[in-house]
Amino acid sequence: MNRRNPFRGAVTLDGPSGTGKSSVARGVAVALDAAYLDTGAMYRAATVAVLDAGADPEDAAAVERIVAGARIEVGTEAGTERVEVDGVDVAVRIRSAEVTRAVSAVSAVPAVRRRLVDQQRALVAGAEAVVVEGRDIGTVVLPDATLKIYLTAAPEVRAQRRAGQLGITDAAAIDDLAADLRRRDEYDSSRADSPLRPAADAVVVDSSDLTQQDVVDHIVALAQAPLMTGDRT
Ligand code: DC
Repeated sequence: MNRRNPFRGAVTLDGPSGTGKSSVARGVAVALDAAYLDTGAMYRAATVAVLDAGADPEDAAAVERIVAGARIEVGTEAGTERVEVDGVDVAVRIRSAEVTRAVSAVSAVPAVRRRLVDQQRALVAGAEAVVVEGRDIGTVVLPDATLKIYLTAAPEVRAQRRAGQLGITDAAAIDDLAADLRRRDEYDSSRADSPLRPAADAVVVDSSDLTQQDVVDHIVALAQAPLMTGDRT
């Protein structure tokens, strides 16, 4: 934390899955004493609502109707994860394989995106300093953000990291993870509405050969550069 030269504004952190984005975003938020918003958690919560209603995630009309009627609430503190659908805590369920499989289809529905983007902008509006992670934050949600980061890593590296988190050592299972990551990247990058891509003014950070702490330190240093804090003396 740098009280003498505090960061004011929004840091956006976009990029594909499996880059360590969430851990990095939380680390940056804590270091900058900023609020934190995980927009992926909101798309995952919407997916829980769709699955609980017994709808097919590929049925865009049903998805639109169900999500329009669901109350999705998320917290904005880096230290705690609060995710609720209609008042029910779904923070653990949103990470299940079932939700992970269905979330790309739900997040490709334009009406779902419009609704959640409005909610994201409202949540961020009240914060003096905030770190927001997702896929389209720098391009669509907060195009005027102070600092935009696009975090990438090689698919094999991302699969290895995910395997480590899940305690998987079997080579075939790790290949499956890499295939799943590529499938989700392809889906997220090729959808018509808000595809995954770096903003023109984003700083691209490849974390393949960096530790998580290195990435956090790098982003915090960028955010605390005099230009970012308004301290130009
Ligand atoms: O970051 P994550 O894995 O929790 O994201 C879950 C899904 O939501 C992922 O398939 C992409 C989608 N997503 C999105 O379309 N836009 C965002 N701003 C955040 C996530």
